[in-house]
Amino acid sequence: MKLKNKKAIITGGSRGLGKATALAFAKEGIDIAITGRNEEKLKQTTAEIKALGVNAVYEVFDVSNYEEVKIGIKNTIANLGGVDILVNNSGIAAFGSFTDMEVSVWESIIKTNVLGMYYVTKEVLPFLIDKNKGDIINVASTAGLNGNANVSAYSASKFAVIGLSQSLMKEVRKNNIRVNTLTPSTIASDMTLELGITDGNPEKVLQPDDFAELIVAGLKLPRRAMLANASLWSTNP
Ligand SMILES: NC(=O)c1ccc[n+]([C@@H]2O[C@H](COP(=O)([O-])OP(=O)(O)OC[C@H]3O[C@@H](n4cnc5c(N)ncnc54)[C@H](OP(=O)(O)O)[C@@H]3O)[C@@H](O)[C@H]2O)c1
Repeated sequence: MKLKNKKAIITGGSRGLGKATALAFAKEGIDIAITGRNEEKLKQTTAEIKALGVNAVYEVFDVSNYEEVKIGIKNTIANLGGVDILVNNSGIAAFGSFTDMEVSVWESIIKTNVLGMYYVTKEVLPFLIDKNKGDIINVASTAGLNGNANVSAYSASKFAVIGLSQSLMKEVRKNNIRVNTLTPSTIASDMTLELGITDGNPEKVLQPDDFAELIVAGLKLPRRAMLANASLWSTNP
């Protein structure tokens, strides 16, 4: 149990990929804090994590609001008793043409996916630097590698996430902090099922557990090795 007793913060850990990651971490003996806006969902998922025998706490805050993030991360680290691993997973998506998409929707995608990741990382990073050790996993997307019609806001946000994440990686390698930028393709999560992007057929479509397994495998690498970037694709197009 190489990861036993580590402490992880997973933003957006109440459902979808974040929840799958939380449950996979719990099976490795990692104590977990999940965050999100919907307290009811956070409570339910925290109970599921605890049932696997690890400590689990949750904190309610909106990642796109820096004042909330400052307080939320301070409370989270106090309640968790420290932090070794940060998974910057919270994110939103919406699709629409340049002319149709409301300015407020475009802005909220950038605020949540880009500024949210920046705010959370800014508040957690000093704790990892102090320990001269840590892991940060930043969830981008294949939409951060290529643009597409009707995906301008989401794609712009994920291109930005990749730039932020790769810059951070080069900045904090010297602090023994590994930064992993993930660019998954479509996974059958709550988000993609709700948006109707996939039917979620487990014979063909990536599942949240596949994503979680990749993160755990990266964390298990010897400290001298870092999974800097990883794309997860389904075998069947
Ligand atoms: N599923 C895919 O195919 C896919 C592929 C590539 C990348 N990704 C990325 O993977 C990440 C997770 O996606 P998912 O599919 O698991 O989505 P999901 O099922 O919708 O889950 C998103 C999570 O983020 C939280 N969240 C959203 N906005 C937030 C905010 N402003 N403040 C705090 N928490 C917030 C949600 O909780 P609340 O609603 O309670 O706040 C929820 O827990 C996202 O960054 C997404 O862009 C997904």
